[in-house]
Amino acid sequence: MGVSVLVGSQWGDEGKGKIVDILSENFDIVARYQGGANAGHTVIIGDDEYILHLIPSGILREDVTCVIGNGVVIDPEALLKEIRFLEKNNINVEGRLLISHNAHLIMPYHKLLDNISEESTTKIGTTGRGIGPCYIDKYARKGIRIVDLLDKKILEEKIRRNLKEKNIIIKKVYEREELDVDEIVKQYMEFDEIIDKYIKDVPMFLNKAISDGKSVLLEGAQGALLDVDHGTYPFVTSSNPTSGGACTGTGVSPTRIDTVIGIVKAYTTRVGEGPFPTELLDADGEKLRKVGAEFGATTGRPRRCGWFDACLVKYSSMINDTTYAALTKLDVLSSFDKINVCVGYEFEGKLLSTFPTNIEKLDKIKPIYETIEGWKEDISDCRSYEELPEATKNYLNFISEKSETKFGIISVGPKRKETFFTDDYK
Ligand code: GDP
Ligand code: IMO
Ligand code: MG
Repeated sequence: MGVSVLVGSQWGDEGKGKIVDILSENFDIVARYQGGANAGHTVIIGDDEYILHLIPSGILREDVTCVIGNGVVIDPEALLKEIRFLEKNNINVEGRLLISHNAHLIMPYHKLLDNISEESTTKIGTTGRGIGPCYIDKYARKGIRIVDLLDKKILEEKIRRNLKEKNIIIKKVYEREELDVDEIVKQYMEFDEIIDKYIKDVPMFLNKAISDGKSVLLEGAQGALLDVDHGTYPFVTSSNPTSGGACTGTGVSPTRIDTVIGIVKAYTTRVGEGPFPTELLDADGEKLRKVGAEFGATTGRPRRCGWFDACLVKYSSMINDTTYAALTKLDVLSSFDKINVCVGYEFEGKLLSTFPTNIEKLDKIKPIYETIEGWKEDISDCRSYEELPEATKNYLNFISEKSETKFGIISVGPKRKETFFTDDYK
């Protein structure tokens, strides 16, 4: 299988967790490369549902080693909760989870500042998990990393130094109550005791494993349009979910990557604020949300829903250089008589055939739709392309052509078995 990167191709929640779970049957290692507990990756096995926020979705396959790369920002509280949850469900984590020395730690002040910032400046609709403020500190070179946990003296010094500054901002700028430094030092010292055994030189481990012929799946969180560089800025997350982020977030060079797998939902959703050209604020949008159970896996917020945007996916496939994609939630469209697909936009009287990431332009464009006949029958039992109704094949072929994306995997339900591979699977 070599080295593959798996990326969300839209605004997140495309079904990455399910597809990682399917693919990890054939991978030795699964590594997360960016984001943090803002992610919510759902895997359904039998009657059990697992929602993973920080630990790679490969953890549910006992032969797979899981890695949290340096590009991830780790909230100790969320990580410990997840480890406990998995162990309670008889999934062994110790010895199978490795955490990079260089990953940054989310601190209580990051979460507080994330929430304050939502109230006081541009509202992004963040998950409130402290992601933005943690990456700010990383790039300001003030961050506290996993490696700092190994030396209690250094850890305490850094926490006290940072809190001195943060407490001034919290008190003087935002007029909130200061955080208790001793309490935080104590909490992170305790975390150190538990986490020590998981810490690893991840770039060394991954590069050696690849040289030894092991297969590696690099699991992205969020999606291309939430990328801080290539997404709908400023309504994005603070990391690089696109395929390039997989290299900086793990220490695996681009020359070692064989395949990029995009995860594409058969329609579009988004959580939080920001432009969404094909958003449906009518009964069709409500139907997508209801049938697709479109409620956030992390925050429970209702997801905004809309038609498939072929220009958006074409843009995403270009940025990621998607080898092939997995198309998910095709079954959700089964109840529609007619299905719209956005094939371009009207902008100031002119036709636009590419997705603009510029926010001012995005606010002014109007989607141009082509309407496809629905199939109006249950497809969740289909296990090959040939078994799909003709109208479903038409829809699939149409969106594939317009988005210039091949679909190697088709998902027709949340369960493992509700999945099949096509001739485009590599
Ligand atoms: P992720 O963040 O990309 O991993 O996606 P989420 O887990 O946040 O959201 C995807 C949701 O869709 C989850 O509830 C999955 O169980 C569900 N799901 C995944 N694939 C399919 C599918 O093909 N059909 C249906 N109906 N549900 C799916
Ligand atoms: P998965 O991995 C969908 C969105 C938030 C908000 C913006 C910034 O499950 O696909 P942040 O907390 O990251 O600073 O919020 O990004 N967002 C997601 N939307 N799926 C996700 O993850 C998301 N992670 C963040 O709603 O609009
Ligand atoms: Mg999700």
